[in-house]
Amino acid sequence: MVRGRALLAAVVVGILVLAACTSTPGREPPPQVPGGDPQRGAQLIEQLGCGSCHVVPGVRGADGLVGPPLIHWSRRGFIAGELPNNATNLIRWLMDPQSVEPSTDMPNLHVSQGQARDIAAYLFGIQ
Ligand code: HEC
Repeated sequence: MVRGRALLAAVVVGILVLAACTSTPGREPPPQVPGGDPQRGAQLIEQLGCGSCHVVPGVRGADGLVGPPLIHWSRRGFIAGELPNNATNLIRWLMDPQSVEPSTDMPNLHVSQGQARDIAAYLFGIQ
């Protein structure tokens, strides 16, 4: 009986360790972007080709150097040096960068508000 309990405890610990190892950061929406889906955001970043211009940690092939690297996004103070970095402003930037900075080289990729929200959720998940 005691051995049985020890075995059970070992199995439980094993499952907990496994769960901790397999849970990827950024799976939960970060608090800044309620309702955003970071998983979908990562897919959109890949599909829309953001990575041809930006380094985006955790997104396959995202190693472009045309725009600034989007590393440590959750700790950035400003978006394109223009707007305080928060979800509302990031969504606005993603939907229409020229409305923030008319001369910017970042193209308008015509993302919907929902898509911009998901992308923002992924970017704010980058520590
Ligand atoms: C053709 C190249 C290009 C593509 C494609 C592109 N960007 Fe950009 N992006 C830029 C450039 C250049 C800037 C710098 C803008 C500025 O400061 O005027 C920028 C700025 C940004 C910023 C602000 C960065 C900072 O440090 O303040 C974010 C966030 C961003 N882009 C996200 C994205 C996302 C997400 C996508 C895909 C939906 C994307 N970009 C697609 C070129 C691009």
